[in-house]
Amino acid sequence: MGYRDDFMALFAEHVHRDGVEQLLEWLDSTDFFTAPASTRFHGACREGLVYHSLNVYKVLRNKFCREEDNQESIVICSLLHDICKANYYHESTKNVKNKETGRWEEIPFYSIEDDLPYGHGEKSVFLIERYMRLTTEEAVAIRWHMGGFDDAARGGCKAISEAYDAYPLAVKLHMADLAATYLLEKGTSSVNRK
Ligand SMILES: [Fe+2]
Ligand SMILES: [Fe+2]
Repeated sequence: MGYRDDFMALFAEHVHRDGVEQLLEWLDSTDFFTAPASTRFHGACREGLVYHSLNVYKVLRNKFCREEDNQESIVICSLLHDICKANYYHESTKNVKNKETGRWEEIPFYSIEDDLPYGHGEKSVFLIERYMRLTTEEAVAIRWHMGGFDDAARGGCKAISEAYDAYPLAVKLHMADLAATYLLEKGTSSVNRK
């Protein structure tokens, strides 16, 4: 099974909400399942984004949540937190010299071409809500999943600390995103094949 299959299987098992089929159909029409997770940091390779989303799910579910927590919310928040990056990266190639062989080789190169410049977490919420309603807790968690890296938070916005105070899921999603990005995927320029 590939990463897309794992992603779809989690939705089929846990998410039973109006609009979910339409949301997944739309996602399939984008480059989400082949896109990288970043241009040159973690997961800067084909399928990096879906690989990262699945890692966030694993960390959120296994490290920060309990069996009795709402599994539907865990799947929605982790697997959809970065859908703002669908149709966001442009793939081209660049030539780099292989240090061992001395030969020039063509490797993938990603740049940003945002189809919908709406922000980051807030854009993911907007895109999901086009098809499927989120609970307030889910929307707040996805909106603030970047923590102190969020542009509004960096600009001094106080709402993030109020959000973390009121919604534990928002804190957990941010910590799971950090752990997946900086611990599991550190330096990954290719995804781990199963
Ligand atoms: Fe993100
Ligand atoms: Fe993320």
